[in-house]
Amino acid sequence: MDKLNQFTLTEAVKDSFKTEEGSRFKFLLESFIDHLHDFTRETNLTHAEWMGVLNFMYDCGKISTPERHEFILASDVLGFSALVDMINTRGGGTEGSNLGPFYLDDAPEKALGADLAPGRDGVTILAKGVVRDILGKPLAGAIVDTWQADGSGTYPIQEQERGQDKHDLRGKFTTNENGEYYYTTVLPKPYTVPFDGPVGDLMRAGKRHPWRAAHLHYILRAAGYRDITTEVFFENTEYVDNDAVFGVRKSLITSLKPVKKGQDLGLPLERTPDAMFEFDFVLSPE
Ligand code: BEZ
Ligand code: FE
Repeated sequence: MDKLNQFTLTEAVKDSFKTEEGSRFKFLLESFIDHLHDFTRETNLTHAEWMGVLNFMYDCGKISTPERHEFILASDVLGFSALVDMINTRGGGTEGSNLGPFYLDDAPEKALGADLAPGRDGVTILAKGVVRDILGKPLAGAIVDTWQADGSGTYPIQEQERGQDKHDLRGKFTTNENGEYYYTTVLPKPYTVPFDGPVGDLMRAGKRHPWRAAHLHYILRAAGYRDITTEVFFENTEYVDNDAVFGVRKSLITSLKPVKKGQDLGLPLERTPDAMFEFDFVLSPE
C-alpha cells in the first residue's frame, strides 16, 4: 500500500469502493470524492469548519419532517436545484424551474375555464396558452398540473390547521383539441422560503433575503414527451431579479394585461378576470 498522505488518500478512498466498472454510480461517487477532497485541500479546512458543515447537515436532518425537507431548501438556496434544472432542460423545450416543497400529486382534475380560487381575495387573472411540441404542433390531451400561493403569498397546504383545504389553488387541466389551456385564479404574491431553520441561519449569515418572486408552478405532461417542471413569473414584480432560490429565467417571465370591463375573451370562464396573461409551453420528445 502506498503511504497515506493528503494526496494519496483520494485514490485510496476511491479504491476502497468495489463499484461496477463503467457504471454511473462509480462515475458519480468517484467524481464526488475527487471534488470533496479537492475542496478540502484548496480551502485548508480546519476542524472547526469541518464540524460546522457536519452540524449544518445534522441540523437540516433534525428539522426535516414529511412536510419539510430542509436539504431540498439548502439545495435551492445554494443554486444546486437551479443548476440541475438548467442542465436537464432539453433544447427547444420550456426551461425548467423549481418544484418547491408544496407539490401534491393528487390535485383535483378541473375543466377548462374553471376558477381555481373561488371566493378568494385578490386580483383575478386569466391564465391561458397552448402546449406545443418543439416543432410548434399543438398537443391535444396534454396535462397542465398547476399549484400556487394565494393573494397574500400563502399556500393552502401551509394553513391546514386554520381549516384550509390542501387541494385548494391547484388543479390538473387537459388541453383541448387545439392544445389550449385556460382557467382563472388569483394573482399570487411573493412569499418567503422557510427561514426559521439552519438554512435560514445560513441566509442570515450571508445577508440574504428569503423572498421568492410571485409565481405559478406547473408540471406539463404528454404521452411521448418529457415532463417539464417549471414556473411562470410576472414582469416588473418584486424579487423577479433576485429570487431567493434562483428560479427565474427570462423565458419564464410573462406580462399581465388588463382585461376591460365587458371585454369578450371568447372563452367559457367561471369567473371574470381583471387581468390576463398568455404563456405557451413547449415539450421535447422523450
Ligand atoms: C416554492 O416555490 O414553493 C418554494 C421553492 C423553494 C423553497 C421554498 C418554496
Ligand atoms: Fe412556490
